[in-house]
Amino acid sequence: MSDDDLIAAARGAARHSYSPYSRFAVGAALRFADGSVVTGTNIENASYGLALCAETVAAAKAMDAGRRGGLVAAAVTGPADVPITPCGRCRQVLNELAQLGGTDPDILCVGADTVKQIKLSVLLPAAFGPASLMQD
Ligand code: THU
Repeated sequence: MSDDDLIAAARGAARHSYSPYSRFAVGAALRFADGSVVTGTNIENASYGLALCAETVAAAKAMDAGRRGGLVAAAVTGPADVPITPCGRCRQVLNELAQLGGTDPDILCVGADTVKQIKLSVLLPAAFGPASLMQD
């Protein structure tokens, strides 16, 4: 699947966004080394702080399906003109999946007219991950 198709998949996922409080529909699409794609969208809650981000939902779906690595790219779309970059928590969640498979995925941050492509390791340098827990 091309980057354009991945972005289209993220935009498609955002159509199912449950975001009545922020009215900020986000879509995420994760591409894996075997070519498969897992999508997610943001899910808010009347208790505002419990909102789930699109990237976190996508990563949870992927891990629930048994994936433990192979993450090569992620596209994130939002309703704003400026490219949307994953929030800090989502960077950490994506990092878990990436580190498990030893990849450094390209994150496609999509805006109205531009796409910023940034490596996850640049968005989250010196990340704490599974390897950080290794003792002796
Ligand atoms: N949101 C995401 O889904 N991903 C991000 O990386 C940033 C923020 C969602 C959370 C909330 O539902 C809405 O966008 C506004 O913050």
